[in-house]
Amino acid sequence: MTTSSLPIETARAEDFDELGRFLNLLFHHGLEPEAHETERAIFEPERSLVVRDGTELVATATAFTRELTVPGAGMPAAHVSMVGVAPTHRRRGLLTALMRRQLRDIHDAGREPVAVLWASEGQIYPRFGYGLASERLVLRGETTELRLPAPSADEGRLRLDRPADRQPDLARVYDRARTDRPGWSARDDRWWRYVLVDPESQRGGATERRVVLHEGPDGVDGYGLFRTKGEWDSGGPKSVTTVDEVVASNPVAYRAIWRMLLSIDLTRQLSCQRVAPDEPLLRLVNEPRQLRAQLVDALWVRVVNVPAALAARRYATDIDVVIEVTDDLLPENTGRWRLLGGPKTATCTPATGPADLACDVRCLGELFLGGASLTALADAGRVRELHPGTLTPATPAFTWHRAPSALEVF
Ligand SMILES: CC(C)(COP(=O)(O)OP(=O)(O)OC[C@H]1O[C@@H](n2cnc3c(N)ncnc32)[C@H](O)[C@@H]1OP(=O)(O)O)[C@@H](O)C(=O)NCCC(=O)NCCS
Repeated sequence: MTTSSLPIETARAEDFDELGRFLNLLFHHGLEPEAHETERAIFEPERSLVVRDGTELVATATAFTRELTVPGAGMPAAHVSMVGVAPTHRRRGLLTALMRRQLRDIHDAGREPVAVLWASEGQIYPRFGYGLASERLVLRGETTELRLPAPSADEGRLRLDRPADRQPDLARVYDRARTDRPGWSARDDRWWRYVLVDPESQRGGATERRVVLHEGPDGVDGYGLFRTKGEWDSGGPKSVTTVDEVVASNPVAYRAIWRMLLSIDLTRQLSCQRVAPDEPLLRLVNEPRQLRAQLVDALWVRVVNVPAALAARRYATDIDVVIEVTDDLLPENTGRWRLLGGPKTATCTPATGPADLACDVRCLGELFLGGASLTALADAGRVRELHPGTLTPATPAFTWHRAPSALEVF
């Protein structure tokens, strides 16, 4: 049976409860009412696609409207999420049909030059032109042996509180940091509620989430969101501190927050799902190996409009190259593009002359946030250097002084 003939429709606001039940089933957990309500607030029905077989919902995909930080700038990006196909209708092309339609819609609307997403499995999205644009470190360390440098005299003060009560402080610190963090997304009040929702049934036996705030001379200048889980064995306490995010405006606040998080009495273990590949913590602790860092995928980027996307970011060094791009799903991107950029400006226009580099649109997604190396892509045979001598100067231009990272799964 083929399902490609099933029509794709735009969702309505009243579809949200059904979509919630459907997606929770696909992701193998129950519907949590409090989290469900925060998700209702961010849901954009007009950007959500549904497929029904008769009256039965069998596939969906959505996009959220948010700004994304990219090297040297902020830009609108379609935040793709809530993607799923019923187990009764899998592997018959429904995801393919949804992805084609969604990319076409995003392209034709003309507002968002890129789409971003988190993938449940790494094999799903490359075929649709998504490239792995940022990675994260998962930390599962033993804290007993970990030490940070001793506090300085101007250490400021730490305070514990309930995160929801301090949302304006968190937002201020986050917004200040975000301007220079490729991969971070803007959070309005709805998104803060989504990030901070903390239903008891999803805590896995741990405490409620708490925030440690650092107060420096100018007020709150850093925070850490965390929870702890009590564990004991015959050897004594071995409780776990789970850290969700640490954001700080300066090194004093950053160090003070991590020093507390790594030394809470009765805890012996650290668990952290998302820290940046260049997280300063790795440069602070006495024994980085004890953090047991593991590198895994984070954000995937799909360049939807090549000239608009390449002109929207900045480049670490001056660059003037012609790139021959192929894009099977959005043929408007296929062609030769001249990228003229640097730390302050960038333009990308159709080129008439010969190309210096050739690659598919997925490679541009990988390069987009400054995380991938152009030379590594060429060594892998995925970027071709048509004009010898292009790769060496172009590789650093595509990178950035901070590795891309992403704090929250949307
Ligand atoms: C992932 C999912 C949406 C795929 O939907 P689908 O309709 O079965 O996908 P399609 O039939 O369009 O598959 C397109 C291609 O991708 C491949 N593919 C799809 N899902 C895959 C997966 N999870 N792993 C590996 N390959 C996959 C298919 O084999 C097919 O390959 P082919 O064109 O060479 O035959 C579906 O399996 C699902 O809902 N999974 C659970 C929820 C989930 O993980 N959602 C994604 C959230 S980011």
